Amino acid sequence: MEQELIRQMLEKKGFIDEPVSPDLKLIEEINRLKKEKNAVILSHYYVDGELQDIADFVGDSLGLSQEAAKTEADIIVFVGVHFMAETAKIINPSKKVILPDLKAGCSLADSAPAEKFAEFKAKYPDHQVISYINCTADLKTMTDVVCTSANAIKIVESFPKDAKLIFAPDKNLGNYINSQTGREMVLWDGACMVHEKYSVEKIIELMDQHPDAEFIAHPECEKPVLLLAKYIGSTTALLRYIEKSEAKKFIVATESGILHQMKKACPDKVFIPAPSVDSTCGCNDCSYMKLNNLQKLYICLKHELPEITLSDEVIEKAKVPILRMLEISK
Ligand code: 13P
Ligand code: SF4
Repeated sequence: MEQELIRQMLEKKGFIDEPVSPDLKLIEEINRLKKEKNAVILSHYYVDGELQDIADFVGDSLGLSQEAAKTEADIIVFVGVHFMAETAKIINPSKKVILPDLKAGCSLADSAPAEKFAEFKAKYPDHQVISYINCTADLKTMTDVVCTSANAIKIVESFPKDAKLIFAPDKNLGNYINSQTGREMVLWDGACMVHEKYSVEKIIELMDQHPDAEFIAHPECEKPVLLLAKYIGSTTALLRYIEKSEAKKFIVATESGILHQMKKACPDKVFIPAPSVDSTCGCNDCSYMKLNNLQKLYICLKHELPEITLSDEVIEKAKVPILRMLEISK
């Protein structure tokens, strides 16, 4: 395909929309290209099961950042969303980082445009900034330490008790950390479109129908949902929890992709996705994560596009708070 056409397609669609023969064995081809190009596939728990199964490493935002930092591959294929691929590029800029679909964004990252955040930050000149990793590289350049849901409490507790802090962009996670640590961090008003949509009424109904089930939730959920939860944790923490719990049934309030790993870890247990206010299917998918598929992954590896590029200045500035996070998380 001609370079100019590819460029236009990437700009318009976010991926190269190239026809692929139905006879092509996509999994075999992906594995062949991966070997040939010395590439590593990193998949988040929220993508489809087949994209988790083909990965060299499946994990949460923290685990994937740690893998990106230490990989010796020449190419990192990030099967997740844009901010995760950007983070990999910032941590390991000598690597080529590619993402199957550039339009795989994040409502949380979108909720905090850098210029608006700069104005907000200017109102609190004596505050330091902790940013949830689900934000743009530009926002990370205005951050003191990044955190993920797996290490958020540890990162916040690494600051003195009386430190003045801003937490961005997720107000739900921020509120949860405030409640757990007794802090009064100033919160940016952002939320995840998946986690803010769980229906308390439908969850209570489901709990009544399944009294033997434990309700577990991700801290990006709103407070009324978290108040119902027996256990609150990051995706990895939820996965560890269902493995060690005596319960045989769970109602799970986080993106339904995680159920793939839960079923693999505990095939004899039952996992029910928590319902959202407007879902008819009874589960909650992240439409951005679900933009990834095997065909796009294959084409992305074949052309080594779309590629994540960032200026040296952004990489230098955004790297500092991410490396601080990785250091504190050791
Ligand atoms: P973790 O991967 O940190 O559990 O966060 C979930 C999430 O929303 C990623 O987009
Ligand atoms: Fe962003 Fe929410 Fe999707 Fe995670 S699940 S990528 S926080 S929109």
